[in-house]
Formats: sequence, C-alpha cells, structure tokens
Amino acid sequence: MNPDLDPLSETITAPRTDAIYNCHAYLTKVPVAAIRPFIETFTAPGDTVVDFFAGSGMTGLAALMSGRRATLSDISALGKHIASGYLATVSPSEFRGTAQSVMATARTAIGDLYTTQRESDGAEVEMVRAVWSFTYVCPACSNEIVYYDHLSPTGSPPKACPSCDGPFARRNWSRGEDVPVEVVVHGLDGRHTQQPVSDFDQAKIAEAIADPRQKDVPSLTIDDHREMYSRSGLGKAGMTETALFFSPRNAIALLELWRAINAVNDEQIRQKLRFAFTAILPRASRRYQWSAKRPLNAQNQTYYIAPVYYEWNVFELFGRKVEAAMRADQLLFDGGAEPLFESVSDRDVTYALASADQLSHIEDASVDYVFTDPPFGSNIYYSDMSLFHEAWLGKTTDNTSEAVVHTTGKRKKGSADRYRALLEGAFSEAFRILKPGRYMSVVFGNSSGQIWGLVQHSLRDAGFSAAPVHVAILDKGQRSVKGLNSGSEGVVTVDLILTVKKPAETESADDARPLSNGDTAALIQEAVREFSTEDAKNPSHVYARILRKAIERHFTLDDLHLGDVLIALRNAGYSVDRKTGLLIAPAAKSEAA
Ligand SMILES: C[S@@+](CC[C@H](N)C(=O)[O-])C[C@H]1O[C@@H](n2cnc3c(N)ncnc32)[C@H](O)[C@@H]1O
Repeated sequence: MNPDLDPLSETITAPRTDAIYNCHAYLTKVPVAAIRPFIETFTAPGDTVVDFFAGSGMTGLAALMSGRRATLSDISALGKHIASGYLATVSPSEFRGTAQSVMATARTAIGDLYTTQRESDGAEVEMVRAVWSFTYVCPACSNEIVYYDHLSPTGSPPKACPSCDGPFARRNWSRGEDVPVEVVVHGLDGRHTQQPVSDFDQAKIAEAIADPRQKDVPSLTIDDHREMYSRSGLGKAGMTETALFFSPRNAIALLELWRAINAVNDEQIRQKLRFAFTAILPRASRRYQWSAKRPLNAQNQTYYIAPVYYEWNVFELFGRKVEAAMRADQLLFDGGAEPLFESVSDRDVTYALASADQLSHIEDASVDYVFTDPPFGSNIYYSDMSLFHEAWLGKTTDNTSEAVVHTTGKRKKGSADRYRALLEGAFSEAFRILKPGRYMSVVFGNSSGQIWGLVQHSLRDAGFSAAPVHVAILDKGQRSVKGLNSGSEGVVTVDLILTVKKPAETESADDARPLSNGDTAALIQEAVREFSTEDAKNPSHVYARILRKAIERHFTLDDLHLGDVLIALRNAGYSVDRKTGLLIAPAAKSEAA
C-alpha cells in the first residue's frame, strides 16, 4: 500500500470539545477527529485497525465512524468499560425512558435524604447541590475557622487567623471536620437560589451518616504501594478508601442508582446507563471543586480535593449525562459511516484485556494498521486513578505490567527498565501483527527528549523503517502555559504523531543510517530562527518542531527539555501572553508598546 500523504496535514488540530470526547472522561484521551485522518489515509474501508494502549477506545470509535473494524486492547478494566459504554447501541427513546425509571426507583429508595426546606416559602424541596468547606485549626491559638467563611469576595484564601492574627498557611494548619456551608435549591421562579445550611439539613446529613447502607457502598483501598497514595497525600488526609470521596448523602444516592441500573434487563441499555453512571462519579464526589466564578472540574490525574467543594445532587448530574450520552451517540452512529455489522460492539470493534507486549489473541501479519497512544512514563498513574471508578465495576486493572515509571514505593526499583522493556515488547508485537508494507502511528506527549530517544530506538529495534513516513504535531487546544516569562518549566500542550512502516516483503528496513545524538542547542537555534508565530503558536509547538526535525534526520535528542526551548525563545526576544499562553514575537511586542 502506498498511501497518498498529501491530504494528511502536518499539524492536526482537534480540540477537546466534541460531544464524544466530553461524554466520559479518561486520562489523556485522543479526540476521534484527530485519529480519523490517519485511519482514512493508511487504511481502506473494511480494514482492521489495532490499538493496544486503547484506553477509553477512541481509536475504535474513529475506526467505526470511518467504516473500519477495530481490535482494541489495554490492561484497564475501566478503559474497557468506557469503550463498551460508548459502543452500546440503544434506541434513544427507550434509553431515556429507562433512565427516568431508574432515577425514580432510586429516588424512592433514598427517601427524603436530599430534601431541604426552601427558605423563601418553607416548602420541602429536593436540593440541587450543597457546598462544603474544610475547617482549619490555628496552630498558635487553636481557634477553628471555616475556610469558606473567610474567603475574599473573589475567592482568595484568608491571610491571617481572625482570632490571633497569626499568618494563615494551609500547610501548617491542621484540619478539622468538613462542614456544609451553603445549599442551592430551585427558587419559586425556578431559578437556582442559595440559602444557608439549616438544622433541617444537618439532620438529613446525620441521617445519611447513620444509614446502614453506607457499608454497602462499593469501595477499594488505595494502599501505600500505590504511587497516588503519596502523590495525593491520601494517608495524611485519611482518604485511603474510594468511598470516602463521596458525601454521606451522595454515597447512598449513588448506591441506589447503581442498584436500579444493574437491575435493568436489556443488556445494551444497562451498559450505556452504567457508562453514564461512571461518567458522573468525579462530579458526584468531593473532587468536584467549588470556585467563586464557576465550578471547576475534578482533576482527573490526581485525587485532589479542594478546600471548598460541591455535594452535587446525583440525579441532576445523571439526568444531564444521559442527554450527553445521546448526543455522543448521534455523532458516533448517525454522523459517520453505517456500522459494518448489525451488532457494533460485538463484531466491528472488540476490546480485550491484554498487555501490549503480549498480543497472542492477534495472528501474525493479520492487521492493516496500528494507531496507538502509549502511556508517557512517569506522569500519569492510570491504574491508581481508575480505582475510583473500578470500585463500582467490581473489576480492577491488573497493573503488574503497567507501562509506568514509579518514583516512590515498592515498585520504584527497576521501574524505568520495565517501562523500556514494555515499550520495546509492544512495538515488537506491532511489527509481528502488521501485514508487510503496512503502517503504525504512535502518539506521544513530548514529555522529554529521553523518552523520544527510547521510542525511536525501540521502533527501529522492532524492525520498522528507520525514517518515519510522517511526523505530525497534534494540537488538542490551548491550555495554560506558564514559564517563558519566569523562565521556569512550561506545560507541554502538543503531542507528536509518528508514523512508521513495516517494510514490504521486497523491502529491507532502512537501517543504513544509525541513530546518533543530535546537537540539541543547534536544533533549538535553528527552530527559533525559522519560527513564525503564525504557524507555531506556543512554546510547545516550537518544542515539537525541534523533535520533528531531529526524528526526520535520524537524531535522538536525549537532552532536550522544554525549559531550554523556553530560554532560547526568551533570549530571541519572545515572551508569552500570560492569559492565552500564546507566544508574542519581538516585533509585535515593540509595536504593542
Ligand atoms: C495514553 S493512554 C491511552 C488513551 C487512549 N488513547 C484513549 O483515547 O483513551 C495509555 C493507556 O495505556 C494503558 N497501559 C499501560 N500499560 C499497559 C500495558 N502494559 N499494556 C496495555 N496497556 C497499557 C493504560 O491503561 C492507558 O489506558
């Protein structure tokens, strides 16, 4: 196969805003709009695409929308659950009807736990949400403060103890019990109205705490072997059980909703409802962050709980998620090509739980294309973060072979070598399963030059052609970039997608040019010289361009760091717009001045 590469752009822009992307969070998803151009370039309709680090299954959805089959795998039980949820095929009206009826069943089962008294007319109504705050104890005078009560109007933390005037510092002040500080209800005019927490509310909370069903709420222990135990300070905060992340009322509401969903007979509807349920869990938990302006999403890479957080009515969240799932379905099933077969999830797209270096379920030379997005190394601990959802699924990820570099705990020793071996094993498997003359595209957050060197070596050792056939920059949209002005490390917001070829039987791997370490400083200078703010918008784009140059020239850049790129840009007169994160060229700066 000799694909026409011209239509495949060198910069793929796919913001994280579409209905499919936003329907269910998973760490580091690749939007389907970024994957489709690759699938459509490197395969024909009906071909089979493989992704062995499949996560939430975006490659499978992209394949389906392009009329291809997909064979997905990952070690993640949560990933498989999410992909199966996306792929479950339901009739919108039956789905919506069943969602209403499971909510009605759960509402009956929880009784009046969410009931509050509306301040304006004394009516008993269901609360929309409550806001909770940490309390802190002053180390100097032992005075306890409710953090929320001492925030400035813009939400800035208190500066001093209101009692003894000693400095306030979250780190040095010990925590007391969290307390509810505000309730939101539908007012008489139907609009959300805020009111103080009453004795009535306190009684409901006490009832929920004493409810014997608390012991039935599914939970998993996040023990001290887990990287996230120390990274999220879980031991210190006493948050080592996933159920503790839910308020007593939400824990009971979730439990009853989950029970009602699992009693649904229709398998596909049940699967999509379970998917909508796990999609709301972060917002139904204490991880949903309050802010003075608008709610801030739960941080999905950490177990962070903000000092002021929401207790959001589970039914409000679920009702909205059901509608979001239907919008995603519309894009997935009505917007693209017709599914190849009647039952989509079973036949066109399959998902196996398997380690990427052991794909024994896939035959040699049977696959038309691989598109995959490996884990980054030591940034994200998928299996630790998945426990939060997996507690409800009753299945956990077997993380013995997880491709991750541990920096703490028992698994730290030999971790970098295990990561390297896993990646090498995965690329060898890719080489084995691909038909000769076919392609593999690998997405990688360009976290460090060293990881890229490892990727380049592993691809070559596996037998792929040394020179990539295509190197694209994937721009998933703007994120805050800090650093150029301060000179500190910036946040990488773009990834590279590297496409390599398994030589056809008549070709031999182009290993004539060995990989050598490139002159990092010279490449940085060259990229900064050529750089134009029109086509490279932020420092990460420049960084990605340097990597692309190196890869195309068979160089590895073990010592490339974003910090060095930031310094070179600053020395050339560039700065970063603090609000947008975009680069400001020297000329534009002097014009503005
Ligand atoms: C960057 S994510 C992929 C996300 C995916 N592109 C998506 O759209 O959801 C990397 C994935 O690699 C998985 N993983 C880690 N070690 C693995 C292994 N040994 N075998 C297979 N998958 C693994 C993680 O569970 C995670 O889902």
